Amino acid sequence: MLTAEKNKLLTEIEPGAPMGDLLRRYWQPIAGESEFDDKPLRPIRLFGEDLVLFKDLSGNFGLVDKHCPHRRADLSYGWVEKSGIRCSYHGWLFDTAGRCVEQPFDDIANPGTRLKERCSVKSYPVRPLAGLLWAYMGPDPAPELPVWEPFTWKHGFVEVVGCDIPCNWLQCQENSIDPVHFEWMHDTWPSRMKGDTSVTAPKHLKLAFDEFEFGFTYRRIREGMTETDPMWTTGRVALWPNAFFLGGHFEWRVPVDNENSLCICWFFSRVPSDLGPYEQKRIPTWYGKIKGEDGRWITSHVINQDITGWVGQGKIADRTKEKLGMSDRGVSLMRKRMFDDLEAIAHGRDPSGIIRDADRAACVELPIAVPQLHRDGVPLAEMKVHPVLKGRLLGNRWVAGQPDDVHNAFMDAMGLPERKRPARLKAAE
Ligand code: FES
Ligand SMILES: [Fe+2]
Repeated sequence: MLTAEKNKLLTEIEPGAPMGDLLRRYWQPIAGESEFDDKPLRPIRLFGEDLVLFKDLSGNFGLVDKHCPHRRADLSYGWVEKSGIRCSYHGWLFDTAGRCVEQPFDDIANPGTRLKERCSVKSYPVRPLAGLLWAYMGPDPAPELPVWEPFTWKHGFVEVVGCDIPCNWLQCQENSIDPVHFEWMHDTWPSRMKGDTSVTAPKHLKLAFDEFEFGFTYRRIREGMTETDPMWTTGRVALWPNAFFLGGHFEWRVPVDNENSLCICWFFSRVPSDLGPYEQKRIPTWYGKIKGEDGRWITSHVINQDITGWVGQGKIADRTKEKLGMSDRGVSLMRKRMFDDLEAIAHGRDPSGIIRDADRAACVELPIAVPQLHRDGVPLAEMKVHPVLKGRLLGNRWVAGQPDDVHNAFMDAMGLPERKRPARLKAAE
């Protein structure tokens, strides 16, 4: 349980809030790079700020205030040019650094003026990496953008998937250090939804949480497992400060405002090792569905099940009313580290896990339970009977709403001519 004051401190992220200041000190993934293959710009809301994300005709990305500094028109109705974004109201042009580089009428009527220097638009740097667009919204100097080692893997099909989540970021992130929910939410509930009461998921018997430079690992022993199991020897990663890393995929929980979040995922699926080299032409981006026609949350896919948990806690979970048990030790540890990092930045220090050495950031390894599955892969025949991989071959079981063209590209990559997805995975389409 937290006091109302502490709950506010961890959850509020809009301008001026300490937790927002803390999260802004990390590069945040905010979109998929391929979204901008066929559109030049779009509005985006992050940390309670309305912004415009664009790709200019030179291929550079920019993130600027939605309001033009001239007379406040909406720049998301502007257009992009070779060097920036132009406002549709009176034609002022801004480059990706936010500098005003043209003021068409003033440039004619008052050519010597230095007015432009005082007319910058607020802007944040954006960088593409691994099919994602990353923004840095914190104070200068920006830290290095870490290249997580999975971003360097070869011969895989990668997809970027976003979901708009109508609740505060912290309840999404607390899910990253909550091993026991797997037993109930993902291993038991799906069978109960089908009316099958015969399934008994293996119980969790033992948990361990370990802090490391880039977050926490959690480890588990469930019925039928031994202490040599990779889920006990390595486990999963609650990646600092707002992500979850499960080996084959990452999930970031990026604050949109106090009551909304963007869950943005990066999935890597190693193609069968007997197919030879594979090079993906384009990393697709798509946005998942979270609500069905009946107005209820979609519950057919793993992350949709998680979302049902998060939004069920309310717009901003009232942690004054929670009752934590033994399974929540990781949640408590994570909150403590957040309070410690808030202290660190209040005293002018970097928070945890910030990398300022470019060589170090060039490839950052994380604990991975079974790395060879992703790095080396296994032959198709073996994948088809593998307890984890065989389900993956049927389609994306994590997020509802994968477009057919992405599914088909995935099946082509896997060397499978099948196009049909099982009804279970089509439930939300
Ligand atoms: S309001 Fe944008 S140029 Fe005038
Ligand atoms: Fe989950």
